Amino acid sequence: MTSIITVKNLKKVYKTHTRKEGLSNAIKSLFNRKYEYKQALKGISFEIEEGEIVGFIGPNGAGKSTTIKALSGFLYPTSGEVVSLGFTPWKDRVDYVANLGVVLGQKAQLWWDLPAIDTFYLSKDVYGIKESTFKSRLNFMVKLLDLEKVMHTPVRDMSLGERMKCKLVAALLHNPKLVLLDEPSIGLDVIAKDKFRDFIKLVNKKYKTTFIITTHDMQEIERLCKKIIIINNGQIVYDGLLKDIKKKYLSNKFIDVKLETKGEKFKLRYCKVVEQNEYEIKIEVNTTKIKVKEVINSLLSNYDVADILISDPPIETIIQQIFRSKDGKV
Ligand SMILES: Nc1ncnc2c1ncn2[C@@H]1O[C@H](COP(=O)(O)OP(=O)(O)OP(=O)(O)O)[C@@H](O)[C@H]1O
Ligand SMILES: [Mg+2]
Repeated sequence: MTSIITVKNLKKVYKTHTRKEGLSNAIKSLFNRKYEYKQALKGISFEIEEGEIVGFIGPNGAGKSTTIKALSGFLYPTSGEVVSLGFTPWKDRVDYVANLGVVLGQKAQLWWDLPAIDTFYLSKDVYGIKESTFKSRLNFMVKLLDLEKVMHTPVRDMSLGERMKCKLVAALLHNPKLVLLDEPSIGLDVIAKDKFRDFIKLVNKKYKTTFIITTHDMQEIERLCKKIIIINNGQIVYDGLLKDIKKKYLSNKFIDVKLETKGEKFKLRYCKVVEQNEYEIKIEVNTTKIKVKEVINSLLSNYDVADILISDPPIETIIQQIFRSKDGKV
């Protein structure tokens, strides 16, 4: 596998000027500016390989968007190095963006008064996409994302989700090698989210497009990403496979049992009853102390079981555990 992005010791310090509230302070601050420094990235390093879908996750203010902006070339870092597709993003912008697609969930990226289709045609001209290629790509995306009708209405009249889908189309029309998505599924309903994810997977498979995606939606991460990078307070606390972090933090399993007939209170060592009502028992099992098989056997011999579901704790729980751990490191 080849790395298409290498980030080395990337730092970003934001400088903002502060002043106390009130008009007189506003005037004073014009002459005597006080600055505040925020170290948003404290020297992060990572590599991304071609064709990966990488989830970039972490709490609010962790530095995710700052990293995405540095990778997009919108932001000059304070120090450090980024080589993405062979370019330094903030230096070689023109050549770089020809290979790049960016979707910023929180930002308007389409012309407000024009129908989305006009923005798409603009992309065609900007990137010099051949008419036939443009048409077939556009058809493919528009169909998959259900945008046939809506792309002819002005962007300002679109729903949040429709706008987001159009942003994705606009970012992908020139078939970039790398796509950076900063909270792309904000405002999408469950069905739209599903389509969005299937679509990303399909594009990834068809064109080997590399995706980096930031999101607070852990289901999205589980559905899309084999690899994740967790960032906290400007530092990377985990970089590796999602399944490995699950393994490390997943000594517990959840068992959800549905009963045919009413059951007694469940009790077994190393098992915690999370919830129990007449026809359902939810148990958390410490698998370092007891085998799931043993718990199932106990359930089957003591209850009239209709259904059993065994699951891992959600990734949110794992991340909370990491953040709660002493130094915030995995
Ligand atoms: N332009 C800016 N000027 C000053 N400080 C900034 C600026 N942009 C971001 N910051 C600060 O840098 C830190 C990292 O911000 P960033 O937007 O990268 O976080 P994030 O991980 O994307 O968070 P969220 O999940 O809320 O989107 C935050 O403390 C934020 O307040
Ligand atoms: Mg952000």
